[in-house]
Amino acid sequence: MLAVSAKSQSADDPLSGLDVGEHPDPQVPEGWTTVRLRTAALNHHDVWSLRGVGLPADRLPMVLGCDGAGVSEDGDEVLVHAVVASPGWTGDETLDPRRSLLSEVHDGTLAEVVAVPRHNLVPKPAGLSWEHAACLPTAWLTAYRMLFTNADVQPGATVLVQGAAGGVATAAVQLGSAAGLRMWVTSRDAAKGEAAVALGADRAFASGERLPERVDAVLETVGAATWSHSINSLRPGGTVVISGATSGDAPAKAELTKIFFKQLRVVGSTMGSRDELERLARFVVDRGIEPLVDSTRPLAEARDGFAKMVDGRVEGKVVFTV
Ligand SMILES: NC(=O)c1ccc[n+]([C@@H]2O[C@H](COP(=O)([O-])OP(=O)(O)OC[C@H]3O[C@@H](n4cnc5c(N)ncnc54)[C@H](OP(=O)(O)O)[C@@H]3O)[C@@H](O)[C@H]2O)c1
Repeated sequence: MLAVSAKSQSADDPLSGLDVGEHPDPQVPEGWTTVRLRTAALNHHDVWSLRGVGLPADRLPMVLGCDGAGVSEDGDEVLVHAVVASPGWTGDETLDPRRSLLSEVHDGTLAEVVAVPRHNLVPKPAGLSWEHAACLPTAWLTAYRMLFTNADVQPGATVLVQGAAGGVATAAVQLGSAAGLRMWVTSRDAAKGEAAVALGADRAFASGERLPERVDAVLETVGAATWSHSINSLRPGGTVVISGATSGDAPAKAELTKIFFKQLRVVGSTMGSRDELERLARFVVDRGIEPLVDSTRPLAEARDGFAKMVDGRVEGKVVFTV
């Protein structure tokens, strides 16, 4: 089958290990099933795998991809939930210490066929397009849990999103504004900030700019570059939810004093559960939300999409048709 895989890894030149070509069909363990993919989407996770982060070299070659939607063996239209729990685990898969994401242990979704546990199939609502369905399982699910499970905010509260253009950031803006939250963003690029406002954000600020008032929650995926600004921007008792560290995980200052003095909550967040993915898909359709798609191209041209992400030129989700 046609698949996009990591053949080797390089911290500085991630595209050097990317292979787009023939790959054996996936093995299907007991209790698993296959999905014939119609669409898949790219995440920063796929670039981290090519850089050698989170994917040990002895597992190569590995088919990349956490986002996908397609047709099950029973002929049903499904989203693929990417969090794979260990055998016998019940409840929230993200809390299983032995969980993995597709493309970490088992081949991922950037392929014609993916094997997944039956439990990981989520019905695709009829009103959701294939293109938008592929956007939801990773970045959108992560933004959904950050906002609605972990940020502890109610409609009318102000939420700051660090970074305006990434997959998680754009999802958070679209979901938060649909739910009645006041969404603010920061960006290194004024044009990206304006694009976020067009998408539903209430205001955009330059990265590091002092805000007119303190916010109730901050959604953090940028990491070292924005950590101090996130802590400084919170009101006493506010919450920073962190799910990524694109610019590095060692900020110049940990801000421990401000965290305890302002009684802030620092909450880690990773992906979401199968049930949250089902609710997310319903929310997106019921509210008429159209996930921002940066570009859509055939899977055979996946390298161009990876190059855009490595160069930081992505606005929204990069989708592949299979
Ligand atoms: N824990 C989880 O479950 C989970 C799930 C999904 C993603 N993630 C992580 O979340 C992060 C974002 O993912 P994504 O797919 O949304 O990636 P992405 O599309 O690459 O987004 C990158 C975002 O980070 C900002 N940014 C990057 N470098 C920056 C810097 N040096 N200073 C300030 N801002 C910077 C950009 O903002 P501007 O260009 O607008 O400034 C952009 O909005 C990644 O690290 C990813 O691994 C984690």
